[in-house]
Amino acid sequence: MRTALLSFSVLGGALAARPFLNEPDTGFDEYFADLPAGELPPLDKLVGLPDFDAAARRHLPTQNYTYYRNGAGGEWSYRNNLEVYNRYRLRPRTMVDITNIESTLPTTILGHNFSAPFFISPAARGGYGNTDGEKGLVEGAAAGDILYIPAQLASLTIEEIATFKKDDQVTFQQVYLDSNDTATKEVFARAEKSGSKAIVFTVDSAADGNRHRAARYGVGSADSAYTLITWDFYDHLRTLTDLPIVLKGIQTVEDAQKAVEHQVPAIYLSNHGGRQIDGARSPLEVAIEIHEQAPEIFSQLEVYADGGVRYGADVVKLLALGVKAVGLGRPFMYANVYGTEGVKRAIDILKHEIAIDAANAGIADLKKIDPSIVDWTPNWALA
Ligand SMILES: Cc1cc2nc3c(=O)[nH]c(=O)nc-3n(C[C@H](O)[C@H](O)[C@H](O)COP(=O)(O)O)c2cc1C
Ligand SMILES: *[C@@H]1O[C@H](CO)[C@@H](O)[C@H](O)[C@H]1NC(C)=O
Ligand SMILES: *[C@@H]1O[C@H](CO)[C@@H](O)[C@H](O)[C@H]1NC(C)=O
Ligand SMILES: *[C@@H]1O[C@H](CO)[C@@H](O)[C@H](O)[C@H]1NC(C)=O
Repeated sequence: MRTALLSFSVLGGALAARPFLNEPDTGFDEYFADLPAGELPPLDKLVGLPDFDAAARRHLPTQNYTYYRNGAGGEWSYRNNLEVYNRYRLRPRTMVDITNIESTLPTTILGHNFSAPFFISPAARGGYGNTDGEKGLVEGAAAGDILYIPAQLASLTIEEIATFKKDDQVTFQQVYLDSNDTATKEVFARAEKSGSKAIVFTVDSAADGNRHRAARYGVGSADSAYTLITWDFYDHLRTLTDLPIVLKGIQTVEDAQKAVEHQVPAIYLSNHGGRQIDGARSPLEVAIEIHEQAPEIFSQLEVYADGGVRYGADVVKLLALGVKAVGLGRPFMYANVYGTEGVKRAIDILKHEIAIDAANAGIADLKKIDPSIVDWTPNWALA
């Protein structure tokens, strides 16, 4: 009986397979049908984060959009990052007083206060979306009181980005490092001098990403060398700065455990938005693995995650496992096409969605969310 049911559901899943939709159809094309080609829809008519993708695609030169949109290889990881959230369905509880949910959005990241448990992931080349480069990302993050992590390979320099910061605005600096200590000390000193409160060291790109879509337009990875990155190297790096060094791109429970051993203050689960190695799991799947095999990790260090987050419910699912804060890359790069106002609007939309999705799931307090609000049995028919 069991087998029969299983094969039935597998078959049913195969028959019901949905085509991949970069943005699910919520009526964007019909609504903006009369908008002249290439024109940006009015910002106040964008209703969700996927709309920023559609808006950027119709507005930006193909080469520019492709740099942001690109994924590695056949882009399974890119698609999976977006679709994985649908495999894990919610178990909303009812009869719960959720009326104070909005007041529970603020959180701390490495001890710094922010208004919401999400942040702007480091993404290179803001200049592909806006002639002001990363200005809109810095200012938008300040206006929305969330964390921004500028990329080392941003269009603006570390110092230029710092000039747009509001007084006491907290940012962390993303870096790519190799064995050249002189260069490492230089970039650490620049980050410290510019007021960064942490270093985010990307460890998921030891080699160049295999990027077919980007290669067509000559907009491949901004970091293409083979790089020696080891735990010994991490220990050594800690002697070169007083700033906490977060590891970005952890993708297994084993590496998360290693990070605890090496007293890493925070790890950041990420497959680089599916841009480095196609086939790498989404951060949600990695967080589930940690939850199943070593759940203590979520209290031994801070865990962040990014990849494919587009809706409030996606954030809720990651937080349910114990993730402290969730990053978004592409949605903010697309929002930055509109500059500061666009980034601010994307932040407001996501804050609102997190609050209402959490409330409808019966969560009274986001800080007390637990894994039981999600059915962790993957439903493959749904993605
Ligand atoms: C255009 C672009 C450039 C990126 N550049 C970097 C980078 O320089 N350093 C880095 O650590 N991650 C980089 N990333 C990865 C992001 O930090 C993040 O992990 C990813 O975008 C999350 O997936 P999402 O775009 O689906 O939110 C980049 C991502 C994009 C889309
Ligand atoms: C952070 O928030 C806490 C609680 O609201 C507050 O006590 C603390 O002073 C805040 N810290 C900073 C640096 O603003
Ligand atoms: C596209 O990217 C180039 C840099 O490669 C930049 O000069 C240009 O301004 C970008 N276009 C738009 C519309 O942002
Ligand atoms: C190391 O970095 C410094 C500073 O950026 C640079 O001047 C030097 O050429 C680099 N050394 C090597 C061997 O690449």
